[in-house]
Amino acid sequence: EIRATISALGGYVPSTVLTNQFLSTIVDTSEEWIMQRTGIEERRIASAEDEATSDMAASAIQNLLDNYKVNPEEIEAVILATATPDYLLAPASSLVCKKSGLINAFGFDLNGACSGFLFGLTTGASLIESGRYKKVIVVGADKMSSIVDYKDRNSCILFGDGAGAVLLEPTTEDYGVMGSVMKTDGGGTDSLVVKAGGSRFPASAETVNENAHYIKQNGALVFKNAVESMAAASTEALDLNNLDAEEIDWVIPHQANKRIIQAVSERLNIPFEKIKINIEKYGNTTSATVPLVLWDFAEDFQPGQNLLITTFGAGFSWGATCLKW
Ligand code: ACO
Repeated sequence: EIRATISALGGYVPSTVLTNQFLSTIVDTSEEWIMQRTGIEERRIASAEDEATSDMAASAIQNLLDNYKVNPEEIEAVILATATPDYLLAPASSLVCKKSGLINAFGFDLNGACSGFLFGLTTGASLIESGRYKKVIVVGADKMSSIVDYKDRNSCILFGDGAGAVLLEPTTEDYGVMGSVMKTDGGGTDSLVVKAGGSRFPASAETVNENAHYIKQNGALVFKNAVESMAAASTEALDLNNLDAEEIDWVIPHQANKRIIQAVSERLNIPFEKIKINIEKYGNTTSATVPLVLWDFAEDFQPGQNLLITTFGAGFSWGATCLKW
């Protein structure tokens, strides 16, 4: 049986830091409120002029190629999870192939909102498990600052920009990506949405005047659904893979709000010390949160340890998977 294993990691965050202090000068909030209600201290922001999602994705991939001495010409496929592609058309993944020198790869974009990386990881693992592909990159990247309304205190405090990448390769040993539980229900479209710029409400002077190109969300409703869905999907994923919660060494949750993560940890009865968190530095980078956590904490993961990844995002879309390191 062929399994897919993560054999290399890369990450990238822009150098510009957006602090709570600065946000408190542009909207009616305070450093303490943001810290206490979200756990976020600062986030990174890409250059508005010359840094788009594909640039960050390519930087994360470059970091992976350099650190693990991977030849870009050997990469066969790249899956770019993003909710903020450079253009509606062409795919941002095509720009990534060019920028990263992936001359023998096909690529596609995958929009699963904050669950995009998990969906991409499972898709990439399936390509490897099929036996047809031996080197697949899954990269999660988002430039949330391009769709955030910096006049809306309910949402602008949460998001940041960044990218993280993993290389999947086959193994016949007993480790790698295990079974995944993935769900989407369409029930949350009104609670977390960028309304305009797509085929339903194409960009017009009216959509611009109505601020309809920015994220709008019902934070409290998203919060409640995130806790319930991530806990339920995690429990299902543990059952699917015949694991008990006690056998999980590390949990890698989507980083949307530290209080969401705490509530999930309580529901799963997994001690908070086992939950990996970097939300204080980066905020919610949507498709990039999970690979950025993997990248940040890779040194802590020991061979044979069990990881649980769980995500929740717009759609709603959510899920969980287990992975033996
Ligand atoms: N500073 C000060 N006060 C604020 C701020 C702020 N930045 N934001 C909201 N408030 C106020 C509200 O206006 C409200 O005031 P009111 O009682 O006078 O009406 C009060 O704080 C409480 O509001 P709640 O929404 O109940 O606050 P909550 O503790 O739920 O925190 C938050 C709000 C941080 C948005 C939280 O609900 C949250 O994190 N939700 C999840 C959102 C999320 O993760 N979205 C992205 C999903 S990922 C994706 O797919 C892109």
